[in-house]
This record gives sequence, structure tokens and C-alpha cells, in this order.
Amino acid sequence: MKLYLVIYICIISISKILSQDVQKKNQVKRNILIILIDDMRHLTDKNIFLPNIQKLAAKSVAFQNAFAQQALCAPSRNSILTGRRPDKLHLYDFYSYWRDTVGNFSTFPQIFKEHGYDTYSVGKIFHPGLSSNFTDDFPYSWTEEPYHPASQKYKDAAVCKSKHSNKLYKNLLCPINVNKQPDGTLPDLESLKYSIDFFKKRNSNKPFLLAVGFHKPHIPLKYPHKFLRKVPIGVVTPPIMPDMPKKMPTVAWHPWTDVRQRDDITNLNISFPFGTMPPKWTLKIRQNYYAAALYIDDLVGKLISHVDLNNTIVVLTSDHGWSLGENGLWAKYSNFDVALRVPLIFKVPSKPPKSISTPVELIDVFPTLLTLAEIKPPNHCKNNDNTVKCIDGKSLVPLMSDKSHFSNLIKFAISQYPRPSVHPVNNSDKPRLRDIKIMGYSIRTKRYRYTEWVEFNNTMFSRNWNKLYGVELYDHTLDEEESNNLYDENKYKNVKNKLSNLLRLHVD
Ligand SMILES: *[C@@H]1O[C@H](CO)[C@@H](O)[C@H](O)[C@H]1NC(C)=O
Ligand SMILES: *[C@@H]1O[C@H](CO)[C@@H](O)[C@H](O)[C@H]1NC(C)=O
Ligand SMILES: *[C@@H]1O[C@H](CO)[C@@H](O)[C@H](O)[C@H]1NC(C)=O
Ligand SMILES: *[C@@H]1O[C@H](CO)[C@@H](O)[C@H](O)[C@H]1NC(C)=O
Ligand SMILES: *[C@@H]1O[C@H](CO)[C@@H](O)[C@H](O)[C@H]1NC(C)=O
Ligand SMILES: *[C@@H]1O[C@H](CO)[C@@H](O)[C@H](O)[C@H]1NC(C)=O
Repeated sequence: MKLYLVIYICIISISKILSQDVQKKNQVKRNILIILIDDMRHLTDKNIFLPNIQKLAAKSVAFQNAFAQQALCAPSRNSILTGRRPDKLHLYDFYSYWRDTVGNFSTFPQIFKEHGYDTYSVGKIFHPGLSSNFTDDFPYSWTEEPYHPASQKYKDAAVCKSKHSNKLYKNLLCPINVNKQPDGTLPDLESLKYSIDFFKKRNSNKPFLLAVGFHKPHIPLKYPHKFLRKVPIGVVTPPIMPDMPKKMPTVAWHPWTDVRQRDDITNLNISFPFGTMPPKWTLKIRQNYYAAALYIDDLVGKLISHVDLNNTIVVLTSDHGWSLGENGLWAKYSNFDVALRVPLIFKVPSKPPKSISTPVELIDVFPTLLTLAEIKPPNHCKNNDNTVKCIDGKSLVPLMSDKSHFSNLIKFAISQYPRPSVHPVNNSDKPRLRDIKIMGYSIRTKRYRYTEWVEFNNTMFSRNWNKLYGVELYDHTLDEEESNNLYDENKYKNVKNKLSNLLRLHVD
């Protein structure tokens, strides 16, 4: 009798412990929503107030100095998703798939999938095409085939009005009437609807990771025209330095060919490669970019309103930034802050709001998300290790807590951009691997940005630090727009040497 009682009590307590364990497991397995915006630079209230993103940021851990590893879609997206630098993926253009050319590296959605999550991709998460094997890395990364909005096939259709004729053009500036679009919609509206339907229909005990990639404010700046009315041209300010600064090395310049090729900009007959935008157009492009950003902000607000924030980790970021005429430059394709800096917001149920100014990198998203979900991330790669077992990013979770035991955490961001030549030519924006001869490596600390443009071997993927084609040093306490290159000033000699050593140590 006594023995029976002991066994009975044992069974009861074991099953209690087990059920608590299961409960705990269910509790920690939070859902994940990733919002990845295309070409969305870090915007401050000085540029435009984005009500929904600001509201989310105020409730979240918001990184004020987050930087992409390369200011180009495919390399940046593959870098974010694998937690590796472009140098480790050998991808600086659009034309290779890492699993088939470098190593069978896991992506973070793939690891979530392997840990019992259902994982979904909506819109543009991977860059479509060869760099994700024409499948967005399905089935490795995703439970279901990725969803793409059907109207994206009209992404480059001539639908933009002009004041001067009834013809429709392929303009850069393209506020539109949604009802008059082919299919009567826009890709991001379709992706929003698909995602909201997903939340409404979801009926599963499994946790999910949903990645929603919006296509705007990538050019053409095509968006519902009501958002243009929210940005009167009178409130738009010009860049402080709208021309190429004297000491900018020419290798740092890119001719923003994709912007020039739009019908409205071609009409301006801007000389190649150094001609700059007429001031009136500078303001108009800034206005339309802000309006397109407001459009996306509106979609973000609508998407978030369907999310249970008590049980969902939300991450909002972008693949890279976009120059809006600073130093005479437009678009991405460079190592300047405006092309590399992105919003990075983590809304985590258990984390109080915090604003963090430590420079961080987009490769950090991978281990941070896994750590938040209590899944052990791969180790940090040491030296030149490039095996499937390690990644380049570091978890940002220590920065999110108030205790300051993160003093040994890396406090700078490294980025890179390739060039075919010192003098800007028509493929300087997007050189193919076979044409790359120079690589610009850039390190950003809280105060400085320091960049070295060095000879690069595109078959060995190696660099020659002794062959320099340009050096840049900008002091952000004096010059936020990075238009005063201090590389040759005696006063900064020590700073320059220190940053050079740090950069070379972390790139090689
Ligand atoms: C690559 O990794 C995936 C997922 O981990 C695995 O299914 C596949 O077999 C691997 N491929 C090779 C060639 O090792
Ligand atoms: C990528 O696609 C090609 C062609 O469909 C296929 O042969 C190859 O196995 C794919 N790579 C991986 C890693 O699945
Ligand atoms: C464009 O500019 C070039 C010189 O910069 C000039 O020769 C040409 O006439 C201009 N074309 C138009 C259509 O303005
Ligand atoms: C989320 O949590 C907050 C604070 O604990 C609570 O006030 C709110 O009702 C919860 N919302 C949902 C949807 O459970
Ligand atoms: C770039 O310039 C080369 C040589 O001048 C020319 O052959 C090529 O068609 C140009 N490419 C583009 C995309 O304009
Ligand atoms: C790259 O390095 C390899 C091996 O050292 C060499 O054969 C090749 O010529 C180099 N390429 C260039 C463009 O220097």
C-alpha cells in the first residue's frame, strides 16, 4: 500500500514537472515577425516623421547606428540571412548562390524551421534570381513556397504621368492612382493583404516565423499619390553639401546610373559621371522618397495592428540605405553612412524600450533572433574560419539589458563596396564579380567613418593593403554628411592609424 502511494506520488510529480516543462517550452516559443523594407534609409524627424515606425520604435529596443554590410540588395540580404559578411559568401553582385559555390551555410529561418517553427516568406526577403537559386532558398529556409505579389510583374511598367503630355512614362517620381494600375493594386498592398489573411487564418500550435518584405521605397518611387500631399515641398530641406566635396577620392563616387536612366531624369541631361542634380529636382526626389516611406509606414502600422505583441518578437529593418543628394550622390552603391545606415528595431515582449547608439551590424540580426528565441546560435567565426559551424554576427541581446557587462562586445561596424575602376564608369554602381578590381572597406565607430579602397583579387578573393586607391576619414561630431575628408590632416594621424589597424585586423 505504502509503496503504491510512493509510486503514485512519484508519477504525479513527474507528470507535473513534465507538463510545467511543456508549458515553459510553449511560453518561450514566441512567434517572430520580420519586416524587411527595401532601400529604406535611417530617417530621422529632421527628414520626415514616420508615425507608425516611430510608435513601434518607442516601445522597442531601437538601434540608432545599425549598418548594412554592403549597400546592394542581393549581397546585403544574403549576408543578413546567413549572418556572414559578403567576403565569406563571395557575393558582391547578383550572380552566385552560396550553397552551390562556397558552402552549405544555414540561414536563420532555416534554423528556426529545424527547431519546430513554421517559416514563411512574403514579398522580397531574398533577392530573387540566381543569388537565391531562383527559389528564395526554398525548401531550405521556408516551410512553404515563398509568396510573391502578382502585380510585381509591372514593377517597371510605364505608368507615371507627366505634366507635359498624356503619354505614360517610366519616371523616377511616380505618385499614382491605385485603381488605375494594372490589376488595380500595388505589390506591397498585395503583400499586406496576404500577411493579414495569414494572421487571421493561422490555426496551429506551432510557432511561426513570418518574414514580410516590402518593395518600396526602392525606385521607381511609385506609391499612392495621397502620401505626396502629406509632404509639402515647402517643408523639404536640401542636403547641406549637394556637390562632390573636394577631397572625396573619385573611387568613392558612383554615377547612380539607375536614377539617371528613369525617363524624367534622362530629360535633365545631367553630364556623366560627375554632373549633379538641379536643386529643384533634389528637393522633388527627397519629397517623393519621403512620401514613399510614409506609404510603407502606413502599411507597417496596418500589419502591426494584427499582431499579438505580447507573444511575438517583431524586427523591422532594411537591406541598406539610400543617398538623397548628400555629396551629390543618389541611390545606394557606396560606403557612405546614408547608403549603409538602416532602421533596426526589436520589439520583444520581455524587453523594456531602449535606444542604443552603439554601432551594430545587420549580420547581428541572425544570432540576436535565435538568442531571443532561446535557441543557441552558431559560434562566432574566429579568424578566417568559414565553415558551416560558425557565423560572423554577434548577439545584441547583452546590449538590450541594462547591465553593462558587454564591454568586450565589438563596438564598430564594417562594410564594403566593390568597384571596377578608380574613375567612375557605367558599371561602377553594380560591377559584376569578373569586373571587380577594387574593394572599399569601411569601419564605423560611434565618432568616425574610415574607409580604405584597396586592390582586390576577384578569383582569390584577397586584397592587397599596400595598393591603395583612396582613403577617407570623416568625423561625425563635426560632419554628419561625411563631406570633409580628413585623411591627410596631421591632427588625425593617430586616429587614422588606429582605425586602419582595426579595419585590417577584422577584414583579414
Ligand atoms: C545542405 O544543408 C541542407 C540542410 O541542412 C541539407 O538538407 C543538405 O543535404 C545539405 N547539402 C549538402 C550538399 O550537404
Ligand atoms: C540550385 O538549383 C539548381 C538548378 O535547379 C540545382 O541543380 C541545384 O541543386 C540547386 N542547389 C541547391 C543547393 O539546392
Ligand atoms: C545635353 O548636354 C550636352 C552637353 O552637356 C549638350 O551638348 C546637349 O545639347 C544637351 N542636350 C539637350 C537636349 O539639352
Ligand atoms: C498584453 O499585455 C499587456 C500587459 O501585460 C496587457 O495589458 C494586454 O491586455 C495584453 N494584450 C493581449 C492582446 O493579450
Ligand atoms: C557601358 O559602356 C560600355 C563602353 O562604353 C558600353 O559598351 C556598354 O553598353 C555600356 N553599358 C551600359 C549598361 O550602358
Ligand atoms: C589573383 O591571384 C591569382 C593567384 O595568385 C593570380 O594568378 C591572378 O593573376 C590574380 N589576379 C589578378 C587580377 O591579379
